[in-house]
Amino acid sequence: MSTDLTIHRLADGYPLNKTKLKTLANRLLAECGVQDHSLSLLITGDEEITRLNAQYRDKNQPTNVLSFPFSDGADPSLALLPVHELGDIIISVETAQREAIEYKQTLHERMSWLIVHGLLHLLGYDHERSENDEKEMLDKENALLQKLNRYRRTAMTKLAINVDHVATIRQARGISEPDPVSAAAICELAGASGIVIHLREDRRHIQDRDVFLLRQTIKTKLNLEMGANKEIVKIALNVKPDLITLVPEKRQELTTEGGLDVLSQKKKIAKVIEKMTAASIPVSIFADPDPDQLTAAYDVGATFVELHTGKYCDVIGENNRQHEFQLLQEAAEAAAQMGLRVCAGHGLNYQNTVPIAAIDTIEELSIGHAIIARAVFVGLDQAVREMLALIRQADSTM
Ligand code: PXP
Repeated sequence: MSTDLTIHRLADGYPLNKTKLKTLANRLLAECGVQDHSLSLLITGDEEITRLNAQYRDKNQPTNVLSFPFSDGADPSLALLPVHELGDIIISVETAQREAIEYKQTLHERMSWLIVHGLLHLLGYDHERSENDEKEMLDKENALLQKLNRYRRTAMTKLAINVDHVATIRQARGISEPDPVSAAAICELAGASGIVIHLREDRRHIQDRDVFLLRQTIKTKLNLEMGANKEIVKIALNVKPDLITLVPEKRQELTTEGGLDVLSQKKKIAKVIEKMTAASIPVSIFADPDPDQLTAAYDVGATFVELHTGKYCDVIGENNRQHEFQLLQEAAEAAAQMGLRVCAGHGLNYQNTVPIAAIDTIEELSIGHAIIARAVFVGLDQAVREMLALIRQADSTM
């Protein structure tokens, strides 16, 4: 059973994100070894925290955090329930913001500290009891904050752009324009952190010439997406991209239709990874958010997994989308815990990318179609910058 965390309300006007706060609180509970408990978190402003501070502590002034352990005055028979109430943490984000400025911290750092502080109070730590207790609580706070830092790999989510679709337009005419090599240069100048191309067996869009030229011209990172096929493996070993992403490939499909089934072909995939590793090429596996596939990806020696966001993007209905989102979020956390580096992509567009970019274990998004489609109307440079602005917006929330 897991811990049930309720975030009752978030104060308006602050860059707060329920998903991120939940992830942070769940990580803390896991680090503290707390299981099968429920906890409630209320993020409010000075007015409400002053009222609560006056009511419960006789202090008619705002404070940063209040903790109310459920055991204070609770019916002892409730302790026999399978899920125990830990209690409530109430934080004033207004005070947190002022303190962040005063202590030269980001709001994220300050809020993290306040949540840690509030949680430790609920777990019985009390810095007001004695000097020893104060030191014990401070040490525990520092240890937990350090552990939290371990989870996040990069400060900003990166954007890698798939330029296959530029090649698709070129191939429709069988001439030399538009050139994915030029497109890649524009994407990089607009702020992309990498270029992705899929060299398919049927060469329907990207051609061998593109792969070799892009290897010479790309200044950021070339990610070669490919099936685990002998001919393409040979080309990859020759070209030496900065990364390869193994995907399933069917001739009849319009685009990659699902994650790679590593479980059923562990030996074959492990062999490809062995060859790439010997050539110092890291391998990513395009995977559905399925814990067994992620474990298999780890077992065969992948460095990265790219979580397949297609279902999340295509599903109809808000509840279904929430469900798919939850699967992705849990998969990202599980993969990061295993030590895999995590990316995500497929089907992401200007409407659905922000929640995915807000998952802080995901270090890079791979987006193609939506950006190239928008580029038709606003130009490639602007289309890339608009997507980067959305990603930054997601990054700047807590
Ligand atoms: N990641 C993988 C593994 C893909 O196969 C694709 C599509 O080529 C993408 C990301 C990008 O998907 P989209 O073009 O829908 O953004």
